[in-house]
Amino acid sequence: MYEELIAESIKAKKLSHSPYSNFRVGVALLTKDNTMFSGANVECSSYGLTICAERVAAVKAITERHKIFKAVAIASSGKDFAFPCGACRQFLSEFSENMDVILVKSKRNYQIYKLQNLFPHKFIFKL
Ligand code: THU
Repeated sequence: MYEELIAESIKAKKLSHSPYSNFRVGVALLTKDNTMFSGANVECSSYGLTICAERVAAVKAITERHKIFKAVAIASSGKDFAFPCGACRQFLSEFSENMDVILVKSKRNYQIYKLQNLFPHKFIFKL
């Protein structure tokens, strides 16, 4: 079902700029109208300025007017499945809290979660 998205996340990993951690993350995001946006982590010598792959893909999509997501595929160079960090869970859930989150080890080895289950109580800004 998500073959193309999974393949795209594996490809996106190659574009990671991660000279400090050497941990590559590639992401592919599927929008409501089936457009795909990819992203990779971009690290900075001031480490805290690093941007995760999920948010790179999300800001690319959002600034191209795609704000509703069906799924995100996340591939990494680590041995284990890489779950999205808390900041990225909040970020994605502000746009589509019920999207599928696909953790990818290879084209045939992946797991699918619902973002809502990974991040049930997002922060909501209300005065
Ligand atoms: N990273 C991501 O790209 N996504 C996450 O959800 C967690 C971590 C990146 C940031 C950094 O470049 C590297 O992984 C190691 O933390």
